Order: sequence, then C-alpha cells, then structure tokens
Amino acid sequence: MPTGDIEVKVETAEVLNSCKKLPFEMKDFIKKSEALRMQYRYLDLRRAQMQYNLRLRSQMVMRMREYLCNCYGFVDVETPTLFKKTPGGAKEFVVPSREAGKFYSLPQSPQQFKQLLMVGGLDRYFQVARCYRDEGSKPDRQPEFTQIDVEMSFVDQAGIQALIEGLLQYSWPEERGPINTPFPSISYDEAMAIYGTDKPDTRFALKITDVSDVLRNVEIGFLQNSLSGSQSTIRAICIPQGAKYLQEKDLETLTELIESKFNQGLLHLILRPDGSLKSRLAKFLNESQKLELIKAVQANVDDVVVLAAGEQEKVCLTLGKVRLEIAEMLEARGLPLRNPSAFHFLWVVDFPLFLKKEESALELESAHHPFTAPRPTDEPLLYTDPAKVRGQHYDLVLNGSEIGGGSIRIHSAKQQRFILEKVLKEDTELLTHLLEALDCGAPPHGGIALGLDRLISLIVGADSIRDVIAFPKSFKGRDLMSNAPDYVTPEELKPYHIQVTWPLAQAKASTH
Ligand code: AMO
Repeated sequence: MPTGDIEVKVETAEVLNSCKKLPFEMKDFIKKSEALRMQYRYLDLRRAQMQYNLRLRSQMVMRMREYLCNCYGFVDVETPTLFKKTPGGAKEFVVPSREAGKFYSLPQSPQQFKQLLMVGGLDRYFQVARCYRDEGSKPDRQPEFTQIDVEMSFVDQAGIQALIEGLLQYSWPEERGPINTPFPSISYDEAMAIYGTDKPDTRFALKITDVSDVLRNVEIGFLQNSLSGSQSTIRAICIPQGAKYLQEKDLETLTELIESKFNQGLLHLILRPDGSLKSRLAKFLNESQKLELIKAVQANVDDVVVLAAGEQEKVCLTLGKVRLEIAEMLEARGLPLRNPSAFHFLWVVDFPLFLKKEESALELESAHHPFTAPRPTDEPLLYTDPAKVRGQHYDLVLNGSEIGGGSIRIHSAKQQRFILEKVLKEDTELLTHLLEALDCGAPPHGGIALGLDRLISLIVGADSIRDVIAFPKSFKGRDLMSNAPDYVTPEELKPYHIQVTWPLAQAKASTH
C-alpha cells in the first residue's frame, strides 16, 4: 500500500508470471515521449495519473447513467456504427461492403438515429456513443471519440439546458468542488464581439472594445484605409499592467505572428506614468482623442493597448487569437490568469443558422448541422434572407473549450426538405428515410451531445484528450501500439471489389 499500512508476512510464494525489462520506468518524474507511451500504452496505463483519469471517467459515466436513467427515465439505446453518408458536417470514414461499389460510412454522431428514435416514441433517449470523424487528431480532437448523446421529445432549449446543468452537477467529482447552476449564457454575436470566438474562456477578462468612434477621424492612412468598407471597425484589447510583464520585443513577436498567420496588422500603445502614450500612433492623436481612447478602453498607467482595424469579423477573430496569445505570454512571465482549478461554464446561444462557406461566400452551410430548427420568429427570413436566420442552437463551453452542442430540431419534413434543397443545395436522396419519418407525425424534439473526452480532460487538467482515452490515436490518426491502419493483401480486398491503385510496394516504402 502506498501508506505502508499493511505488512505482509510471506509463508509461501509462487511466481505466476515474469516481467522482462520494461521499455520505460513507471515513475511519473521520468519523462517519456508520447509516442513511446502510446506504443506501450498498456504500460503507460499503469501510471497513477492514467489510472486516476480512467477511473474518474468511469465514475462520472456511472453517475450520468444513474441521473438520466434512474432519476429521469431516459432509455439507453445503442445505434449502429455501420451507416450511410450524411450530407454536410465532418468528413466520414467509409467502410467497404461486399456489394460492388457500395460503402458504409461510420456515423460522425448518432444524430439521425436519435431523431428517428423520437419518431419511434422513445421520447427520452441517451447513449454513451462512439463517433467517428476523419478530420485528423489535435489536442482536443480524435478521429474516434465519445459523446454523451441525449434527445428528448416535446422539449425546448431551456429544458435541455436545465437537464444538462443538473446532469453535470450530479455527476461532478466531489474533489473538484461544487459547480453553480444555472450556467451563464451569452449570444453568439456578443461572444464574437467581446472575445473574438464562439468558445470564450471566461476565466479572464482581456475583453475586446470597439474604439471605432474614437479613432474614426484620426488622420492616419492605415486606419482610414481599414475603415473604408461598410463592415469595418477598430477594436482594442487593454492589457492591465502589460508594460510590467511584457517587453516591447514580446509585442513585436505577437504583431509578426498575427501578420504572418492572419494577414492582419496590429498596433500597440503603452500608457506611461506621465500620462503620455508610447506608440507609433501617438503623434497622430490630439489630446482629446488620446483621453477618449484611454477612457474607452479603461486604461491605467503601465497598461498596454493592442489595436486592430479592418473588416469586423476578421478583426474580432484575430483579436480573439491575440487575447489567448497574450494570456499565454502573461502566464509565461509569471502572471497567472487562468486558474486551472476554476471551472467556468458558459452557454453560447443565438447562433446564426447558416454561415458563409469558406471556399465561396455565396454558398451557405449549417452552423451546427442541417437538422437544426430556425428560431420561430426568424422563419419568414428563410425564404428571403436565409443568412440572417438564427438557429435554435446552443453550445456549452467550459474554460474556452466547446464541450457540448445541440439544438431543437426541424420536425416538419417540408421545412427540412426546403433547407436541404434550396438553402444548402444538398442531395435529399441521401436522407429520404429521415424525411419520410418526419412525415409520420414526428413530435417536436431537441437534444445535445457532450464531448465526454473533452469534458474529462478539462476536469483532470490533462494537456490533451489522449490522456483520458485508454487507447487513443496519434496525431496522424494511427494506433502506435498495433500500427493500425495497416495493409491488407489484394486477396483480402477481392470480396470488396477494391483494388489499390497506388503500387503497394511504393506505398510500403514511403512509410519507412
Ligand atoms: P457536435 O458536432 O457539436 O454535435 O459534437 C458535440 C461535441 O462532441 C465533441 N467533439 C469531439 N470530441 C473529440 N474529438 C472530436 N473529433 C470531436 N468532435 C466533436 C465536442 C462537441 O461539442 N449530433 C450533434 C449533437 C446534437 O445536435 O445533439 C453533434 O455531434 O465537445
């Protein structure tokens, strides 16, 4: 026992198995590369931190089941993982079948099935659901991951939110302290304007302020050019005591990073103790403009103000990134901003139903997924100006990570068909089964899915969701322990009518 409380007096001993020299020592203080840990995952799992993470995950899931099934009458239903392509959304993995040219797709989530279950009268569904998305791995993203997937009939947004708040409160590990409900809520527009992201980390301020009115008349070419468009703006972030923690060099590095990555210029000002401003901009500002600016961003002595000008959406998104970079920099300089043991939940609501596609601003795609219902008051806009319609979509954010997303669904086949065909220009053939089901008296319904891996990783303070998954995939989507995905022989591919066109030998050689 770690406590040394129990002493065992051995009378006889039998060796059940032997242990060869291990590829690494189990001790936490011995640093190992993540690749090595993943290659010998079964050994890595023996570490105290991994044991803690997986045990806490199991306990939370148990509590969630209790809450949903025992307290609220939810039914745990398993849905298929061999399914067909769903239009829109993440890229799906395809699985060959023995019928020539036909493939299954692995579901990116049980979305269609849970809606079909509502039509089927299972009016409170939940599942610990495995989802698959062929979108590469990131610290908060895995090609296969787990959702706590929920759907209810005759429910509204407030009903789903209250259920999830109760669920999290009930299953929350005691050792992490209590969480307060209801969670605060912010609209998508407000989140973008104040934090430059739809998943704000509200553990720290560094909010974005609109200073367009203050600087609109400043005679400086760069500002005037940036303000020529109709959606243009000048926004600022004030960094309290920035001059004490950040050096001029840090701010230049930040400016270069933002210029190269986002093609967006940044200016900064420092408020000196004598009340003057240290900045390239200073000589262009008259005394009253200077005072107005200081007032608008509420700057004090030794504060640094970062400014960006241009098209509103781009400026806000860039300052959203700047805000996080600054937080990193300040923390690296010894000013703690993001308390790792604080849990700031936030609902983000009133999303637009559609967003402009990155490739072509004339085409629209769903902000959430194509089954999300418009806000009833915005419905007429569907037929005149769909880009202005807001959806009944809500995301749950924890400490700057999106840990859940859901919506009230379209239950009218006619409206669903219109959105798929006329707004999203999707092939409705793929969804005939769902459209037919909606036409069979589908009840109004809605739901949500929590990203279980992300939630647990935030609770245990892991750097990546890989640390709360027993057998995760690498950055490239590989299983480093078994080396999956792997080659199969042409004979094995025959029943699937598949031939690998890229010469196999070349493919094999390129991996070495
Ligand atoms: P959404 O796509 O927003 O919604 O997913 C819900 C939550 O799942 C988590 N998540 C992921 N976690 C790890 N790796 C990934 N690749 C990954 N992708 C998503 C996130 C996210 O908030 N069917 C809808 C839900 C609904 O409408 O009810 C859906 O899947 O935490």
